[in-house]
Amino acid sequence: MTTFSKIIGVGSYLPETTLSNAELEKSVDTSDEWIRTRTGIESRHIHAPHETTSDLAFHAAQKAIQHAQLANTDIDLIIVATTTPDMVFPSTACLLQQKLGIHHGAAFDIQAVCTGFVYALSVADLFIKSGQATNALVVGAETFTNLLNWQDRNTCVLFGDGAGAVVLSKSNDPGILSTHLHADGKYADMLCVPGHVMNGETSGNPTVTMDGGAVFKFAVKVLSQVSLEALTHNAMTIDQVDWLIPHQANIRIIEATADKLKLPMSKVIVTVQKHGNTSAASIPLALDEGVRTGRIKPGQTCLLVGVGGGFTWGSALLKF
Ligand code: ACO
Repeated sequence: MTTFSKIIGVGSYLPETTLSNAELEKSVDTSDEWIRTRTGIESRHIHAPHETTSDLAFHAAQKAIQHAQLANTDIDLIIVATTTPDMVFPSTACLLQQKLGIHHGAAFDIQAVCTGFVYALSVADLFIKSGQATNALVVGAETFTNLLNWQDRNTCVLFGDGAGAVVLSKSNDPGILSTHLHADGKYADMLCVPGHVMNGETSGNPTVTMDGGAVFKFAVKVLSQVSLEALTHNAMTIDQVDWLIPHQANIRIIEATADKLKLPMSKVIVTVQKHGNTSAASIPLALDEGVRTGRIKPGQTCLLVGVGGGFTWGSALLKF
């Protein structure tokens, strides 16, 4: 019998503190009107000073494990997709493992920025299909606001903090139908944090820099490309997809992608207005909201598509 992997639990967490567009107007030369019309974002969540990425991940993970009706100790693989780890090392996954009281199995981070969750889901799927794991906890978690220059209106209005998680388990029926991952490092300069830590000092610029227009065009192009790649691979057409769950960066990127795919927006999960771009957390946050609100139902077909710095992009087509 073929082994599949299937999502059996979802969860998410957004920090308590919110920062609305109106509040941002007070500290940077922008307006609620500009942000809403250009991005669709209305508000974002900001982590408390004591909250780290692994704390956000912990809350989302606990909800996903409970939703899956498993005990923490049933988890034998933890993958955290993050651009904002608590420390250089140990990995955020190891710190999360300790918080969950798990002391067995593998735990590691994946760094593919906003495509991180799709990358992590793909790796977990392969671990399960190859028999190396039974119950994987796959998390996208970010304290992305730590990477922002709050005086740079080109970038600081776009991002927020949050975490989303799924439990992916061994299953006799699908499950994940396919994943496709891509990267091309020649686009590194288009979106990056060019600073790093060297000999205990920050070297270079440790905040997000971006060519917004170029990112916009690239994102629409590859999100539609990778969606069609997944459909072709599975001999499916777009009308067989119940839900598109795209990376939540900008409503105009999402609408342009849906338009290219000839998919009505009523079949797209959109949460960007509530939390802005939460990088690796954005897709599992949207997935969790779709499930909790009863829109995504068991047996439905979901197409997850992501794009992010690197550049990286990818898809996961699955039966929920
Ligand atoms: N408030 C007011 N004005 C602003 C702001 C702001 N927050 N930010 C930029 N501007 C100004 C610029 O300075 C520029 O002014 P100028 O014309 O005088 O030079 C002007 O607005 C640009 O306006 P538009 O051309 O209308 O902006 P555009 O429609 O290109 O939208 C945006 C800009 C929102 C950045 C868009 O290009 C975008 O969303 N790009 C994608 C960026 C993104 O999503 N990055 C996230 C990471 S990538 C990822 O997740 C895939």
